[in-house]
Amino acid sequence: LGTTGALLLSQCSRGSSPSAAPGSPLAQAKVHSSEGGLLSFDLVAEAQRVKLGDRDANLLTYNGQVPGPRLEAKPGDTVQIRFTNRLNQPTNLHYHGLHIPPTGTGDNVFLEIPPGESHTYEFQIPPNHPAGTFWYHPHYHGLVAEQLFGGLAGLFIVRGDLDEVPEIKTAQEEFLVLKDYALDRSGNIPDPGHMAQMTGRIGDLLTVNGRFNPTLEIPQGGLLRLRLLNASTSRFFALSLEDHPFYLIATDGGAIAAPVEMNELVLAPGERVEVLVQGDREPGQYRLVNQPFNPAQGMMGRGMMGGGSMGGGMMGGSQRQSTTETIATLTYNGTTEPLPLPDQLIAIEPLPETQTTRQFSLNHGMGTGMGMVFLINGQAFDHNRIDTQVRLNTVEDWEIVNTGTMAHPFHVHTNKFQVISHNGQPVPYAAWKDVVSVSPGESVRLRMSFRDYVGKTVYHCHVLDHEDRGMMGILDIQ
Ligand code: C2O
Ligand code: CU
Repeated sequence: LGTTGALLLSQCSRGSSPSAAPGSPLAQAKVHSSEGGLLSFDLVAEAQRVKLGDRDANLLTYNGQVPGPRLEAKPGDTVQIRFTNRLNQPTNLHYHGLHIPPTGTGDNVFLEIPPGESHTYEFQIPPNHPAGTFWYHPHYHGLVAEQLFGGLAGLFIVRGDLDEVPEIKTAQEEFLVLKDYALDRSGNIPDPGHMAQMTGRIGDLLTVNGRFNPTLEIPQGGLLRLRLLNASTSRFFALSLEDHPFYLIATDGGAIAAPVEMNELVLAPGERVEVLVQGDREPGQYRLVNQPFNPAQGMMGRGMMGGGSMGGGMMGGSQRQSTTETIATLTYNGTTEPLPLPDQLIAIEPLPETQTTRQFSLNHGMGTGMGMVFLINGQAFDHNRIDTQVRLNTVEDWEIVNTGTMAHPFHVHTNKFQVISHNGQPVPYAAWKDVVSVSPGESVRLRMSFRDYVGKTVYHCHVLDHEDRGMMGILDIQ
């Protein structure tokens, strides 16, 4: 029933993959104790001088590393996280994407953990929780962008249904935490500057697992499972694999029903995907390339089409990213008989149609002397205001409309959603999501069912400078 330490250790050393090797930045966290289905981890947030690729950098770390240690649990496990804040400012933890209580010692983002203090989080992963690629990061309002940009983020993996699909089981697994950094010549993170008020802070150093252009090996038989997280504060990624397709198998909230072939993966801040990559019969090398993309123009903004005028905004800030860069290299030795792709994954239950539709409009405006404020339905975040009240065990449609000039990845805590339509067009396949990017002029319809937990939680823009500057609301489930 419970996960034993031995089992976790064997998972840890299972692959010979570079990113999962013990001691590497993505090594799985040590379980402090593990009895009767209780997994206990220690996490310490602390400023440290660390290596970022070949550079020395003063970053914010969990347990002295960027990204933070990878946590793993199974449905039914009780997870205990003994967290200590050794930063010089308050912080806390958010378990992004997990369906756990938003209150008490669960995913409670209203907590403040002052410098020097500790807090023990403890929650159960529900027995019916889907497998998926989730993550943790700070969520102390006003400091989230700064702390995440500094390096505070780690993966939280739930093992379950998708991992049992036979073809997936045989694939080699690699975790790819994508994150941008900015460093000055002494290895410090420079001040975000004026522009970051609009675009959010964006760095020009693109890392995968805290390294520059790491090499990953596609195993013999040619089936590689990549689990990607965009842990950037504000940067979008638009990835391609030279001439080779990705086969999408999971989105933010877990598996989709069947693989979908894709030539490009766009990841907004906070989004995750899992894809399979197949090797050829011939040996070769595939470069994972981040391409020019303009989030303010949505899917129209890929490539050089992104003119930048729409993303320009009143202060000249543009979310457009115009360089092409290889962020990882996959090598492959060739094979005589490539492993097959799965036909089917995990069925997705459609949510029942509902009469309840709520509107959310996203925009920004001038604050009172402090630069820009970012608004949902015309209002900036207020700790003491409940913005949206819903009833437990109901289904609602939320229509998210972007009436501004910047792209906003909309994120909801606690309960995941399905995107029903994008600008009135139905989406091509059903998927569980917890972040969806809405470009200027677009509207996106989400369907959500509020189950299992009552209490206050939040929704917000995952460009975290926008969130810190007001683009967040309180959702109360009763
Ligand atoms: Cu990953 Cu409320 O955020
Ligand atoms: Cu935003």
